[in-house]
Amino acid sequence: MGHKGNQPDWDKIAEKFDIFLPQIAPVGEVLLQALAVLPGDKVLDLASGTGEPALTLARRQPHAVIAGIDAAEGMVRVAQKKVVAERLPNISFQTMPAEHLTFGDASFDKVLCRFGVMLFEDPLKGCREIHRVLKPGGAFAFAVWSTPETMTTMSWAARAFKDRVPEEHQPPIRKVTSLGGPGVLDELLRSAGFTQFSVTPHRFDYQYASFDAYWSAMEASEILRQQFNALPVAEQDSIRDEIARFARDFQTDHGLVIPHEYLLAVGRK
Ligand SMILES: C[S@@+](CC[C@H](N)C(=O)[O-])C[C@H]1O[C@@H](n2cnc3c(N)ncnc32)[C@H](O)[C@@H]1O
Repeated sequence: MGHKGNQPDWDKIAEKFDIFLPQIAPVGEVLLQALAVLPGDKVLDLASGTGEPALTLARRQPHAVIAGIDAAEGMVRVAQKKVVAERLPNISFQTMPAEHLTFGDASFDKVLCRFGVMLFEDPLKGCREIHRVLKPGGAFAFAVWSTPETMTTMSWAARAFKDRVPEEHQPPIRKVTSLGGPGVLDELLRSAGFTQFSVTPHRFDYQYASFDAYWSAMEASEILRQQFNALPVAEQDSIRDEIARFARDFQTDHGLVIPHEYLLAVGRK
């Protein structure tokens, strides 16, 4: 993972990000179910990355009009390629930061965001923008990572890298879990102007056939690349071994099953 300050450099890993989509697909299903998009709805997917869950929605609900935005041009390009390849007529993606949406007030019936809000440079500003572009009575649903200990795979990486690489190369676990503490998300939503909402913890599992399958996915995604590049080769092997030890507790008869927790915010303007 290349890092720009306290989050991955999404432009650099854009072409590889889809390796993770199957693992986080269950979260997309929960978001889409919570939103219950209807024919004719105008929908905004924020921090839409390489296009999910917006693309799944576009295929299922051809009579909804869907816009996706993301701050990283590289991610948006990958999403746009999928729109062209599938000739989807009801969805478009643009490069835009969540803090400065170019949409007019009250332009969307539904807004969603999967694992984006906690990464915003300014989550409050982003949530105020969500509030502004939602129609009165419009619904929003988004997912953010919960606490560091329940963001299991990243906490493995954080522990393994902790004493081996300098601060600027540490996995960005603090930023990724910055809205996961008790009451933090509620306070953020209230400050952004929302009065009707719920925040609930949800659990789901990352599933891999084996530790090797997990590690290959990590390597292929280049997710740890910058941390690795900062290390001597001998250290790289010892990191892999240490993470393999952490993973041992999650080995089951069905392969590696790694629980993760996120917070689901659902509300109405
Ligand atoms: C973990 S990815 C999630 C992508 C997609 N929502 C998904 O679930 O597959 C986080 C995304 O947030 C985007 N992002 C980070 N800060 C942002 C901001 N301020 N405004 C818009 N997008 C942002 C990143 O570029 C990245 O594509």
